[in-house]
Amino acid sequence: MKERPEKVPQRIPAHQEGTAPQLSAEEMRAIDEERSHYESDAAAGLEALRIVQRERGWISDDSLRAVSAYLGIAEAELEGLATYYQLLFRQPVGPEVIQLCKSSSCWILGCDRLQTTLEKALGIHPGETSADGIFTLLENPCLGACDRAPVLLMNEELHSHLTEEKLQALLAEKRQRHADQSAD
Ligand code: FES
Repeated sequence: MKERPEKVPQRIPAHQEGTAPQLSAEEMRAIDEERSHYESDAAAGLEALRIVQRERGWISDDSLRAVSAYLGIAEAELEGLATYYQLLFRQPVGPEVIQLCKSSSCWILGCDRLQTTLEKALGIHPGETSADGIFTLLENPCLGACDRAPVLLMNEELHSHLTEEKLQALLAEKRQRHADQSAD
């Protein structure tokens, strides 16, 4: 079952949530493009949710309702998709979402040490977002890369054969990238 962030600060979304649930023109254009590849609108639901998350960072209740109204798919059906698909987030997350595998192969090869490294470096526990709003840490069941354990997903990018040193370097690289973007 997907872990969800429990205590995360609200990241400023691409545009404000909480008003009338509707999609932006860009979101509708992207969804229309995707739905042309599917036989039914229902089948395009997952892609529509991914598009909305890409624009807004996560899928709020309003966003879910907007997709439901636009595609004519029941909210419960979309909720089921969002729950099943581990890269869809129903709570605010940072731009860097770390999903650490805690299943057997990764556990044998030291995922607990990696978790400790992450917790110390980011000052958070699983289900939380760092104070700078950049990193959200989640635990995950097997990521399907057991032969490359221990592994984690950073957004949709798999990092394998991880050591504490490689992990520290990865965090430093991400921090630097966000610092550079802020300075621009
Ligand atoms: S146990 Fe970690 S990827 Fe399978």
